[in-house]
Amino acid sequence: MKDPASFSSRALTVALAAALVLSLALVARPVLDLRGSGNDQGHSPEQPIAYSHRLHAGELAIPCLYCHFAAEKSRSAGIPPLSVCMNCHARVTAPFIDVRAEDAAALKEKRKPRVLMSEEIRKIYDALGLTSDGTPSPDRTPSPVRWNRVHNLPDFVYFDHRPHVAAGLICQTCHGPVETMEKMSQHSDLSMGWCVNCHRRTKPAGTVRRASTDCATCHY
Ligand code: HEC
Ligand code: HEC
Ligand code: HEC
Ligand code: HEC
Ligand code: HEC
Repeated sequence: MKDPASFSSRALTVALAAALVLSLALVARPVLDLRGSGNDQGHSPEQPIAYSHRLHAGELAIPCLYCHFAAEKSRSAGIPPLSVCMNCHARVTAPFIDVRAEDAAALKEKRKPRVLMSEEIRKIYDALGLTSDGTPSPDRTPSPVRWNRVHNLPDFVYFDHRPHVAAGLICQTCHGPVETMEKMSQHSDLSMGWCVNCHRRTKPAGTVRRASTDCATCHY
């Protein structure tokens, strides 16, 4: 038989622990700025390379997971390494229209076409320590591109991409019409209400239960 006393003391311990953690979060927040930029809806920082989701995910229709392959396998969706960019940019070094114009001009002038390298693509080559022809540059050491974070939940919140992707939610449900964004921006407000409202109403595909709204699901 279940012991009601031990059950309620366990429940009490959990409740007290939760209350402690959360009151600490509340008290410490103004002091330590625990909130971070979680609620920063519309946040759209400048990026070191003018990468466009409208062009790549929209016009060129490259699947989100081609670059954010980690979203299925790990907590973070991750930003792709530059080697993924080089799958295409080893050849595409400037807008096609300019490359074609140069090819036509070279043919007319009976010379070899020059390698065209646009300013933004050059940044990829520079970061990889490569010259325009793709060989290691003697006077450049590779240094990673420092993309600026757009989304940033406070540290006391636990989020994981895996269960969401596994439940069949598409990226745009949370990130908005990314394929139209010239510059990435935060679409949802990432507030607790936003998370909980969806957990309350969403039944993961093939089940009758709803996503959990226990405090401990999202708070350590
Ligand atoms: C060709 C590679 C590529 C594809 C395809 C791509 N992305 Fe990205 N994504 C990036 C890069 C690079 C960044 C970092 C620069 C930036 O924020 O624009 C990024 C950033 C993001 C961010 C913001 C990350 C942060 O800092 O919070 C989100 C969200 C995102 N992508 C979602 C998507 C979605 C959804 C799709 C599909 C519709 C998609 N991406 C397709 C390369 C890609
Ligand atoms: C249920 C909502 C939801 C869905 C669905 C979702 N994301 Fe996210 N995504 C978030 C939240 C919330 C964050 C901020 C996480 C943080 O700050 O710890 C985030 C952060 C990111 C980031 C930047 C930080 C990181 O995790 O590396 C990228 C890139 C990203 N998402 C891409 C995607 C892609 C691509 C998909 C589809 C495969 C997707 N997301 C699906 C809610 C979602
Ligand atoms: C699947 C192929 C593919 C991948 C992967 C890819 N790109 Fe592109 N990218 C293109 C094409 C095609 C163009 C358009 C060229 C044009 O304008 O005709 C382009 C254009 C660009 C441009 C603008 C071009 C310019 O000359 O100014 C930038 C910047 C860029 N990509 C950055 C990136 C970065 C950064 C990554 C990796 C995160 C990446 N691309 C991954 C195919 C790709
Ligand atoms: C658009 C709907 C939606 C939004 C928004 C959303 N979630 Fe979820 N979440 C789900 C679904 C569906 C599941 C899968 C539940 C399952 O498989 O039992 C889930 C699962 C989870 C899980 C795993 C739970 C477990 O028991 O394994 C965590 C953690 C989580 N969500 C945290 C968050 C946080 C934090 C936010 C806000 C930043 C958030 N979610 C926003 C729909 C959503
Ligand atoms: C589905 C995920 C999820 C669940 C479940 C959840 N929270 Fe939250 N909670 C969040 C997110 C996300 C934030 C951060 C919001 C922000 O940055 O404004 C947050 C923030 C908070 C804060 C900080 C104050 C604030 O408004 O920023 C407190 C306190 C809190 N939650 C208490 C609770 C309690 C108590 C429960 C259980 C009844 C609970 N949470 C359940 C996602 C969740």
